[in-house]
Amino acid sequence: MGRITSLVGRVVFDSRGDKTIEVEAAVDGVKGRAAAPAGKSRGRREVEPYPAGGPEAAVKVLREKVAPRLVGHEYASFIEFDQLLQEIDGTPNFSNIGGNTALAASVAALTAYAALRGDPPYKLIARETGQEPALPLPLGNVLGGGKHAGQGAPEIQEYLVIPLNPKTIHEAVEANIRVHRRLGEILSRRVSGFPLGKGDEGGYAPPISVEAALDAVKEAAQRVGDEMGVRIGVGLDVAAGSIYDESSRRYVLKSQGLYLDREGFLNYIVELAEKANLVYIEDPFLEDDPDAFAELRKQLPNTLICGDDLVVTRRELIEDCLKKGAINAAIIKPNQVGSLYLTWRAVDACLKGGAVPVASHRSGETTDAYLSHLAVGMGCKVIKAGVLGGERIAKANELVRISEEVGASKVSRIV
Ligand code: PGA
Ligand code: ZN
Repeated sequence: MGRITSLVGRVVFDSRGDKTIEVEAAVDGVKGRAAAPAGKSRGRREVEPYPAGGPEAAVKVLREKVAPRLVGHEYASFIEFDQLLQEIDGTPNFSNIGGNTALAASVAALTAYAALRGDPPYKLIARETGQEPALPLPLGNVLGGGKHAGQGAPEIQEYLVIPLNPKTIHEAVEANIRVHRRLGEILSRRVSGFPLGKGDEGGYAPPISVEAALDAVKEAAQRVGDEMGVRIGVGLDVAAGSIYDESSRRYVLKSQGLYLDREGFLNYIVELAEKANLVYIEDPFLEDDPDAFAELRKQLPNTLICGDDLVVTRRELIEDCLKKGAINAAIIKPNQVGSLYLTWRAVDACLKGGAVPVASHRSGETTDAYLSHLAVGMGCKVIKAGVLGGERIAKANELVRISEEVGASKVSRIV
């Protein structure tokens, strides 16, 4: 045990250049630090990231309301510390202190405590969660569209790849990087005048249709998979909320000339899944339509149907969707709920319900790599953290470092 000796916040910048909160905590004088990420295609039921006034106001709240209650406190566990943060906030959605304030404080304190003990954070997390540390499979965005890219990019938000049977974590990370590189070559051949621009998460953002994008990614994955002798699956994050037109009640894919109602879109997703042999589909429908997810699950029993905006890392929503048979995977974004403890509650619901927890970055990130520790320590079988860009590769490199203790070949399997 150790005592929290200081807790201070500052405003820093994320990968999009937006302001975010960073917290520095000290336990017995030993420091730890963490910054919060930021989403752009957010679910309606996520907690409030900041008190009114944004990151600057959060720094003030931390100084005036949070630090006075926590400095001097004996740090014993993230579970206990995070419950105190909830108590200090006093609302169900962190609207007083902000979920980003709470999360950054929670991770900073854990990191400081880990440094004091000389343990890596994943080990402390694993000790509290009772999980056997294992390395997650990296699921990465090689092509981006929707809200993460500019005009003309495909409407579906993310085109993802995942090595399914890598021998080591190095091989897994390298496979994704090679697909990204190969995709760049394919796109420069196929899309005239495309200068290889990228979206918010480091995937290419070419002016092509959804199907042309999927086709290029599929080819790149196939080629690299054959060269490396690794099976590389393809996935999509539809982020359906951002392609739905409320007034006409249609899912709109202009690049394909498609304006589809719920049934039509369901059939279309099945068609895409069969064509590209999709192993993973995230948020294929609106966040208030778990029944559509359940219908898709029935039609694609071997595909991971993952909820992001649908469940926003909330245990009760995950449990409800599992009961309905709507999902067999869930995105785990710590700042959707605002603390490591609440994040663990969500992961635990997945593990108990036989679903795959997917630890996930946000489109606005920093070079912090605690997401990798969280994934290993909480038993997330997959980590979705992008492929290239400093703030994305930081998470992959941290997995490489963690693997030196856990064992480079101790990589999870989902099939
Ligand atoms: P966000 O989106 O981080 O911009 O909210 C990422 C996602 O939808 O997975
Ligand atoms: Zn998503």
